[in-house]
Amino acid sequence: MDNKFMPFEDWQFCNEYIWKSRWIFAKTMADNPHFYTLRKDSVDDEFVRFVLLIRKYGFRMKYGRSWYICLRVNDWYYWTMGCPIHNCPKTGTILINRKECKLAGEHSYDDIAEDYESAFTEDIFADEDVQTADLISRHNTSGRTLEIGCGSGMVTRNLIFNHDRYVGIDPSANMLEKFHAVPQLADLKTVNTDFESFADGDRFNFVFATYGAASYVRPEFWNRLPDILERGGSFLLMFYADDYVPVTHIYSGSEMPYFSATEFTAYCDISVKKSRAGNYVVIEGVKNENLSSEKRL
Ligand SMILES: C[S@@+](CC[C@H](N)C(=O)[O-])C[C@H]1O[C@@H](n2cnc3c(N)ncnc32)[C@H](O)[C@@H]1O
Repeated sequence: MDNKFMPFEDWQFCNEYIWKSRWIFAKTMADNPHFYTLRKDSVDDEFVRFVLLIRKYGFRMKYGRSWYICLRVNDWYYWTMGCPIHNCPKTGTILINRKECKLAGEHSYDDIAEDYESAFTEDIFADEDVQTADLISRHNTSGRTLEIGCGSGMVTRNLIFNHDRYVGIDPSANMLEKFHAVPQLADLKTVNTDFESFADGDRFNFVFATYGAASYVRPEFWNRLPDILERGGSFLLMFYADDYVPVTHIYSGSEMPYFSATEFTAYCDISVKKSRAGNYVVIEGVKNENLSSEKRL
């Protein structure tokens, strides 16, 4: 159930279309709460473009006995009934539906959220915390900051940053629940989404992912980094080192697929600094003239 990678210009268009459209609650289907927007209320070209993008980059999802092509943007699914694209109330496509993703319990990390932090109580992990906080403090954390895979906020709670300009994302609703239970993180903005489905109208000054969170993102989606960063903005991504078996995997018996830093560099033509911090490979970079769209895949 994953979106396919789409060019950033199209992805931004989807986000803008969603924000400016009027979404009406479908009163007749209270057992399947969802909303819809009407073609007649949209600029027609924009409606058609969004529908075609859903169909090209979405994934198949079953509801009842039927399969639909859905696109996920943040914590919502978008779909049509699959009719031809022409504008006819009887045989064409005249509305787009959307429904909130109720992700709790669907992500592997939901199962380990309760005990996640107890896997990191040994001294070696405290050393890693210090190393990680030190690496992050070298970046500008006072601007718009995106944390990918913020989890229960184990690192976040020890950082100094601008709380009003922070966004944390994570596909595990249970990990986010833990995050908001930490008093100093309770009011921070979070979105229950993976990076692959994340869209935001504004760019960020700093993007980071700690303790292996970067390893769960499908590598082609790192091509979005230059687009979501402000010029001069920077990023720090921690991947599991190849010689390390993630402690959460041992502990939970989970076999979640993940990627290495090598795959990041294979997919993304971005000049980066690579270093090692404990069990992780750290990839850092700055968006400057060299990190332009021409250099991306
Ligand atoms: C090893 S935990 C790290 C959590 C936190 N960063 C920390 O330092 O404790 C990895 C986190 O990445 C999240 N994650 C998994 N797949 C993801 C994806 N595709 N995009 C963003 N986050 C993801 C998991 O739900 C989990 O909370």
